[in-house]
Amino acid sequence: MGSTFWDAQVRRFARGPMASAEGDPFLSRARRVTGRRTTVLDVGSGPGRFALALAPRAHQVVAVDISPAMLSLLRRRARRLGVDNLRTVVGPWPEVEVDRADVVLCSYVLPVVEDAAPFLRELDAATGRRALLSMTAMGQDAVSEPLWRHFHGARRSPAPTYLDAVAVLAELGITADVEVVEVPVRVRFATIAHAVRDYRKGLLLPDTAAARKELRWLLSSWLVRADGGLRPPLRTTPTAILQWGPPREPSRRRRPR
Ligand SMILES: C[S@@+](CC[C@H](N)C(=O)[O-])C[C@H]1O[C@@H](n2cnc3c(N)ncnc32)[C@H](O)[C@@H]1O
Repeated sequence: MGSTFWDAQVRRFARGPMASAEGDPFLSRARRVTGRRTTVLDVGSGPGRFALALAPRAHQVVAVDISPAMLSLLRRRARRLGVDNLRTVVGPWPEVEVDRADVVLCSYVLPVVEDAAPFLRELDAATGRRALLSMTAMGQDAVSEPLWRHFHGARRSPAPTYLDAVAVLAELGITADVEVVEVPVRVRFATIAHAVRDYRKGLLLPDTAAARKELRWLLSSWLVRADGGLRPPLRTTPTAILQWGPPREPSRRRRPR
Protein backbone atom coordinates (compact mmCIF):
# COMPACT_ATOMS: atom_id res chain seq x y z
CA MET A 1 0.00 0.00 0.00
CA GLY A 2 1.46 3.30 -1.10
CA SER A 3 1.24 6.83 0.26
CA THR A 4 -1.92 7.64 -1.76
CA PHE A 5 -3.85 4.92 0.04
CA TRP A 6 -2.71 6.17 3.46
CA ASP A 7 -3.25 9.85 2.59
CA ALA A 8 -6.90 8.96 1.93
CA GLN A 9 -7.18 7.34 5.40
CA VAL A 10 -6.14 10.44 7.33
CA ARG A 11 -9.65 11.53 8.32
CA ARG A 12 -10.39 8.10 9.74
CA PHE A 13 -7.25 8.36 11.88
CA ALA A 14 -7.94 11.96 12.94
CA ARG A 15 -11.13 11.09 14.81
CA GLY A 16 -11.54 7.32 14.83
CA PRO A 17 -10.42 4.66 17.27
CA MET A 18 -6.78 5.14 16.23
CA ALA A 19 -6.78 8.85 17.24
CA SER A 20 -5.65 8.36 20.83
CA ALA A 21 -3.18 6.08 22.60
CA GLU A 22 -4.40 6.71 26.15
CA GLY A 23 -5.11 3.42 27.91
CA ASP A 24 -3.22 1.45 25.27
CA PRO A 25 -0.74 -1.02 26.84
CA PHE A 26 1.75 -0.30 24.02
CA LEU A 27 2.01 3.30 25.28
CA SER A 28 2.57 2.23 28.88
CA ARG A 29 5.35 -0.18 27.79
CA ALA A 30 6.97 2.59 25.70
CA ARG A 31 6.73 5.02 28.65
CA ARG A 32 8.62 2.56 30.86
CA VAL A 33 11.72 2.84 28.65
CA THR A 34 11.48 6.57 27.86
CA GLY A 35 13.05 9.26 30.03
CA ARG A 36 14.25 12.87 29.70
CA ARG A 37 17.38 11.90 27.73
CA THR A 38 15.76 9.29 25.50
CA THR A 39 15.56 9.69 21.75
CA VAL A 40 12.54 8.01 20.19
CA LEU A 41 11.90 6.95 16.60
CA ASP A 42 8.31 6.09 15.63
CA VAL A 43 8.21 4.21 12.32
CA GLY A 44 4.85 4.37 10.53
CA SER A 45 3.71 6.92 13.11
CA GLY A 46 0.47 7.88 11.36
CA PRO A 47 -0.79 11.14 12.89
CA GLY A 48 1.33 10.37 15.94
CA ARG A 49 -0.82 9.07 18.79
CA PHE A 50 2.30 7.44 20.33
CA ALA A 51 4.86 10.04 19.19
CA LEU A 52 2.82 12.91 20.69
CA ALA A 53 2.08 11.07 23.93
CA LEU A 54 5.80 10.31 24.45
CA ALA A 55 7.28 13.66 23.36
CA PRO A 56 6.70 15.51 26.68
CA ARG A 57 8.85 12.97 28.54
CA ALA A 58 11.50 12.32 25.83
CA HIS A 59 14.56 14.26 24.65
CA GLN A 60 13.57 14.09 21.00
CA VAL A 61 11.06 12.20 18.88
CA VAL A 62 11.37 11.51 15.15
CA ALA A 63 8.23 10.31 13.38
CA VAL A 64 8.61 8.56 10.02
CA ASP A 65 5.66 7.86 7.74
CA ILE A 66 5.12 7.15 4.07
CA SER A 67 2.08 9.47 4.03
CA PRO A 68 2.60 13.26 3.81
CA ALA A 69 -1.04 13.81 4.93
CA MET A 70 -0.57 11.77 8.13
CA LEU A 71 2.58 13.72 9.00
CA SER A 72 0.98 17.05 8.19
CA LEU A 73 -1.81 16.23 10.67
CA LEU A 74 0.84 15.18 13.19
CA ARG A 75 2.66 18.54 12.84
CA ARG A 76 -0.62 20.45 13.28
CA ARG A 77 -1.40 18.46 16.42
CA ALA A 78 2.13 19.04 17.75
CA ARG A 79 1.80 22.82 17.23
CA ARG A 80 -1.57 22.83 18.98
CA LEU A 81 -0.09 20.93 21.95
CA GLY A 82 3.07 23.07 22.07
CA VAL A 83 5.31 20.05 21.39
CA ASP A 84 8.62 21.37 20.02
CA ASN A 85 10.92 18.33 20.24
CA LEU A 86 9.31 16.35 17.43
CA ARG A 87 10.57 16.08 13.84
CA THR A 88 8.82 14.36 10.94
CA VAL A 89 10.43 12.50 8.04
CA VAL A 90 8.31 11.57 5.01
CA GLY A 91 9.20 8.37 3.17
CA PRO A 92 8.92 4.61 3.13
CA TRP A 93 10.76 2.61 5.75
CA PRO A 94 13.38 1.17 5.34
CA GLU A 95 14.45 3.55 2.56
CA VAL A 96 14.53 6.76 4.63
CA GLU A 97 17.79 7.84 6.27
CA VAL A 98 17.47 8.68 9.95
CA ASP A 99 19.82 8.53 12.92
CA ARG A 100 19.66 5.66 15.33
CA ALA A 101 17.42 6.26 18.37
CA ASP A 102 17.41 4.82 21.87
CA VAL A 103 13.83 3.58 21.59
CA VAL A 104 12.20 2.54 18.32
CA LEU A 105 8.44 2.07 18.03
CA CYS A 106 6.42 0.45 15.31
CA SER A 107 2.70 0.01 15.89
CA TYR A 108 0.37 -1.72 13.45
CA VAL A 109 2.54 -1.24 10.38
CA LEU A 110 4.11 -4.62 9.67
CA PRO A 111 0.99 -6.34 8.21
CA VAL A 112 0.80 -3.68 5.48
CA VAL A 113 4.48 -3.97 4.53
CA GLU A 114 5.34 -6.01 1.45
CA ASP A 115 8.66 -7.44 2.60
CA ALA A 116 8.94 -7.84 6.38
CA ALA A 117 12.61 -8.99 6.56
CA PRO A 118 14.37 -5.80 5.32
CA PHE A 119 11.83 -3.70 7.23
CA LEU A 120 12.63 -5.46 10.52
CA ARG A 121 16.37 -5.65 9.85
CA GLU A 122 16.55 -1.86 9.50
CA LEU A 123 14.28 -1.35 12.50
CA ASP A 124 16.79 -3.36 14.49
CA ALA A 125 19.72 -1.43 13.00
CA ALA A 126 18.08 1.85 14.02
CA THR A 127 17.62 0.70 17.63
CA GLY A 128 20.04 1.92 20.26
CA ARG A 129 18.44 0.33 23.31
CA ARG A 130 14.93 -1.03 22.84
CA ALA A 131 12.61 -1.82 19.94
CA LEU A 132 8.87 -2.17 20.57
CA LEU A 133 6.53 -3.49 17.94
CA SER A 134 2.80 -4.04 18.25
CA MET A 135 0.72 -6.28 16.07
CA THR A 136 -2.53 -8.14 16.29
CA ALA A 137 -2.40 -11.53 17.96
CA MET A 138 -5.46 -12.63 16.04
CA GLY A 139 -5.88 -12.80 12.26
CA GLN A 140 -7.19 -9.31 11.44
CA ASP A 141 -10.24 -10.76 9.70
CA ALA A 142 -11.00 -13.57 12.16
CA VAL A 143 -14.08 -11.84 13.57
CA SER A 144 -15.62 -10.96 10.23
CA GLU A 145 -14.76 -14.34 8.68
CA PRO A 146 -18.44 -15.53 8.67
CA LEU A 147 -19.42 -12.40 6.75
CA TRP A 148 -16.65 -13.01 4.21
CA ARG A 149 -17.76 -16.62 3.75
CA HIS A 150 -21.39 -15.53 3.33
CA PHE A 151 -20.54 -13.27 0.39
CA HIS A 152 -17.56 -15.03 -1.18
CA GLY A 153 -18.43 -18.66 -0.43
CA ALA A 154 -14.87 -19.50 0.67
CA ARG A 155 -12.47 -18.87 3.53
CA ARG A 156 -10.38 -15.71 3.41
CA SER A 157 -6.61 -16.21 3.33
CA PRO A 158 -5.42 -15.53 6.87
CA ALA A 159 -3.76 -12.16 7.49
CA PRO A 160 -0.33 -12.13 9.20
CA THR A 161 -0.17 -12.11 12.99
CA TYR A 162 2.62 -11.55 15.50
CA LEU A 163 3.68 -15.20 15.07
CA ASP A 164 4.83 -14.34 11.55
CA ALA A 165 6.80 -11.36 12.92
CA VAL A 166 8.42 -13.56 15.59
CA ALA A 167 9.42 -16.07 12.88
CA VAL A 168 10.94 -13.41 10.60
CA LEU A 169 12.82 -11.87 13.55
CA ALA A 170 14.17 -15.33 14.44
CA GLU A 171 15.43 -15.73 10.87
CA LEU A 172 17.31 -12.45 11.38
CA GLY A 173 18.84 -13.83 14.59
CA ILE A 174 16.64 -11.67 16.86
CA THR A 175 14.75 -13.19 19.79
CA ALA A 176 11.86 -10.98 20.81
CA ASP A 177 10.09 -10.97 24.18
CA VAL A 178 6.39 -11.42 23.51
CA GLU A 179 3.55 -10.17 25.68
CA VAL A 180 -0.06 -10.62 24.61
CA VAL A 181 -2.42 -7.98 26.00
CA GLU A 182 -6.09 -7.16 25.52
CA VAL A 183 -6.74 -3.83 23.80
CA PRO A 184 -10.24 -2.32 23.95
CA VAL A 185 -12.01 -2.24 20.59
CA ARG A 186 -12.73 1.44 20.00
CA VAL A 187 -14.41 1.09 16.60
CA ARG A 188 -17.82 2.77 16.68
CA PHE A 189 -20.32 3.43 13.89
CA ALA A 190 -22.72 6.34 14.29
CA THR A 191 -25.35 4.61 12.12
CA ILE A 192 -25.90 1.31 10.33
CA ALA A 193 -25.22 3.14 7.03
CA HIS A 194 -21.71 4.06 8.27
CA ALA A 195 -21.12 0.43 9.23
CA VAL A 196 -22.33 -0.81 5.85
CA ARG A 197 -19.93 1.56 4.05
CA ASP A 198 -16.98 0.44 6.17
CA TYR A 199 -17.68 -3.31 6.00
CA ARG A 200 -18.48 -3.19 2.28
CA LYS A 201 -14.97 -1.90 1.57
CA GLY A 202 -13.33 -4.31 4.03
CA LEU A 203 -15.20 -7.28 2.56
CA LEU A 204 -14.35 -6.16 -1.02
CA LEU A 205 -18.02 -6.05 -2.09
CA PRO A 206 -19.31 -4.12 -5.11
CA ASP A 207 -21.05 -0.81 -4.43
CA THR A 208 -24.49 -2.05 -5.53
CA ALA A 209 -27.90 -1.64 -3.90
CA ALA A 210 -28.20 -5.44 -3.55
CA ALA A 211 -24.85 -5.81 -1.73
CA ARG A 212 -25.64 -2.86 0.57
CA LYS A 213 -29.11 -4.24 1.39
CA GLU A 214 -27.82 -7.72 2.24
CA LEU A 215 -24.95 -6.37 4.31
CA ARG A 216 -27.31 -4.06 6.20
CA TRP A 217 -29.54 -7.02 7.03
CA LEU A 218 -26.59 -9.11 8.31
CA LEU A 219 -24.99 -6.27 10.25
CA SER A 220 -28.18 -5.22 12.02
CA SER A 221 -28.22 -8.47 13.98
CA TRP A 222 -24.43 -8.79 14.21
CA LEU A 223 -23.35 -5.36 15.53
CA VAL A 224 -23.96 -4.44 19.16
CA ARG A 225 -25.47 -1.14 20.43
CA ALA A 226 -22.92 0.96 22.35
CA ASP A 227 -22.36 4.63 23.24
CA GLY A 228 -25.35 5.72 21.17
CA GLY A 229 -23.95 3.93 18.11
CA LEU A 230 -22.88 0.45 17.06
CA ARG A 231 -19.75 -1.60 17.66
CA PRO A 232 -18.41 -4.99 16.50
CA PRO A 233 -19.32 -7.91 18.79
CA LEU A 234 -15.97 -7.92 20.63
CA ARG A 235 -14.99 -5.69 23.57
CA THR A 236 -11.25 -6.29 23.30
CA THR A 237 -8.84 -7.84 20.83
CA PRO A 238 -5.62 -9.65 21.75
CA THR A 239 -2.57 -7.67 20.68
CA ALA A 240 1.06 -8.74 20.89
CA ILE A 241 3.81 -6.40 22.04
CA LEU A 242 7.22 -7.58 20.84
CA GLN A 243 10.35 -6.12 22.43
CA TRP A 244 14.02 -6.64 21.77
CA GLY A 245 17.40 -4.94 21.92
CA PRO A 246 20.10 -3.86 21.87
CA PRO A 247 21.24 -4.58 18.32
CA ARG A 248 23.85 -7.31 18.00
CA GLU A 249 26.28 -5.40 15.79
CA PRO A 250 26.68 -1.74 14.86
CA SER A 251 24.91 -0.74 11.66
CA ARG A 252 26.91 0.62 8.78
CA ARG A 253 23.91 2.61 7.52
CA ARG A 254 22.90 4.44 10.66
CA ARG A 255 25.05 6.82 12.59
CA PRO A 256 25.16 6.36 16.36
CA ARG A 257 24.18 9.54 18.20
C1 LIG B 1 -2.38 1.27 10.60
S1 LIG B 1 -1.48 2.76 10.56
C2 LIG B 1 -0.72 2.79 12.18
C3 LIG B 1 -0.36 4.20 12.63
C4 LIG B 1 0.25 4.30 14.02
N1 LIG B 1 1.49 3.56 14.13
C5 LIG B 1 -0.74 3.88 15.08
O1 LIG B 1 -0.60 2.78 15.65
O2 LIG B 1 -1.67 4.64 15.32
C6 LIG B 1 -0.12 2.38 9.49
C7 LIG B 1 0.74 3.60 9.19
O3 LIG B 1 1.95 3.14 8.58
C8 LIG B 1 2.28 3.98 7.50
N2 LIG B 1 3.13 3.18 6.59
C9 LIG B 1 2.76 2.13 5.83
N3 LIG B 1 3.83 1.59 5.20
C10 LIG B 1 4.91 2.34 5.58
C11 LIG B 1 6.29 2.30 5.28
N4 LIG B 1 6.82 1.38 4.47
N5 LIG B 1 7.10 3.23 5.84
C12 LIG B 1 6.60 4.19 6.67
N6 LIG B 1 5.29 4.27 6.99
C13 LIG B 1 4.46 3.36 6.47
C14 LIG B 1 0.94 4.44 6.94
O4 LIG B 1 1.03 5.63 6.21
C15 LIG B 1 0.12 4.60 8.23
O5 LIG B 1 0.21 5.91 8.73
